[in-house]
Amino acid sequence: MEKQFEVFKNKKVLITGHTGFKGSWLTLWLSKIGAKVYGISLKSKSLNHFNSLKIKGVKSNFFDIKDQKKLKKVFQKIKPDFVFHLAAQALVKRSYENSTETFLSNSIGTLNVLEGLKSLRNNCTAVIITSDKVYKNFEVKRGYKENDIIGGQDPYSASKGCAELIIESYFSSFLKRNKNLKIAIARAGNVIGGGDWSKDRLIPDCAKSWKSKKPVILRNPNSTRPWQNVLDVIRGYMILAKTLREKINLNGKPFNFGPQSNENYSVIDVIKLLKKNWKNFNFKIQNSKKNYKEANLLKLNSNKANVLLKWKCALKFKQSVELTANWYKNYFNTKNVKKTSLLTLENYYHHLDKQ
Ligand SMILES: NC(=O)c1ccc[n+]([C@@H]2O[C@H](COP(=O)([O-])OP(=O)(O)OC[C@H]3O[C@@H](n4cnc5c(N)ncnc54)[C@H](O)[C@@H]3O)[C@@H](O)[C@H]2O)c1
Repeated sequence: MEKQFEVFKNKKVLITGHTGFKGSWLTLWLSKIGAKVYGISLKSKSLNHFNSLKIKGVKSNFFDIKDQKKLKKVFQKIKPDFVFHLAAQALVKRSYENSTETFLSNSIGTLNVLEGLKSLRNNCTAVIITSDKVYKNFEVKRGYKENDIIGGQDPYSASKGCAELIIESYFSSFLKRNKNLKIAIARAGNVIGGGDWSKDRLIPDCAKSWKSKKPVILRNPNSTRPWQNVLDVIRGYMILAKTLREKINLNGKPFNFGPQSNENYSVIDVIKLLKKNWKNFNFKIQNSKKNYKEANLLKLNSNKANVLLKWKCALKFKQSVELTANWYKNYFNTKNVKKTSLLTLENYYHHLDKQ
């Protein structure tokens, strides 16, 4: 498996949001392959996968990507071979509570990263992570394709939609003329996996409730989401970067990363599987109406990534939830985050070998 990603070995890889849920897995995986990982994130004192992993050799920079001057300086100092831009205010609920911060971090933050890329003179391949929520959601049953309309009602979705418009403008106005630079956009669906401790997300809420022997409160048990495992998505980002470096025709293109079309499950489906894996885990359904809108149905069409990148999720829904449940079970039993996460990665490799 790691042979496939030799292109990253000894390369300078800059990850914005490297301490986040996805970023910490990407940092772990790339470090394991032998990449020189640099990160940009906000400093966080709360329980955090990255801090507990203590990965050797990672060079962290803690500052706000809203600071364009600083960001450009860091880009110019590192001169990265690869960039993965993940830093964002990533929570829908928080985007209602702090919409200005969400727009500034997600839209202007992305603009600043593009400015950083624009200022580079070395060869660089960049993957910009937006979201499945960038599509104007008509709650249709078919999956959204990359050329569907960009929209988004809630501030999080709209901020990511704005980021997409900024990327398109920067690409056609400046970046496509730079022969040393290649960029692509990754739009992934809802991601689950171990090591997520974010507030107001299903899996962390369930894990914390299970640990404290309290039932988890479900806001929207019938909501359907394109759940997929964090390792499937991270592998997708890495394949995109690798392929983009080799194939100029992918430059400037967006890619969806979602589960197979028959793999759309609801919140309650996730809960039922967790219950099978976690002894005495329970839930309660919240009857009161929530005061903010979140889409109930969201499907992605990932044919483009299937065909052009030869990527598809290695894990079926059940396997993905099981791998996630086992991470938390092992973590609560051993408190050894690094061992737990490396074991999870090994298990994931086994699934890939069977593909
Ligand atoms: N988790 C999901 O289900 C999901 C689904 C679709 C898209 N995404 C996108 O994937 C990316 C990563 O998501 P995640 O779940 O790992 O998020 P996360 O909230 O776990 O991590 C966010 C990271 O960004 C950093 N960050 C946030 N604001 C910043 C700022 N202003 N300056 C510098 N750093 C900042 C944080 O320090 C952290 O490292 C985000 O862009 C998110 O929108 C996530």
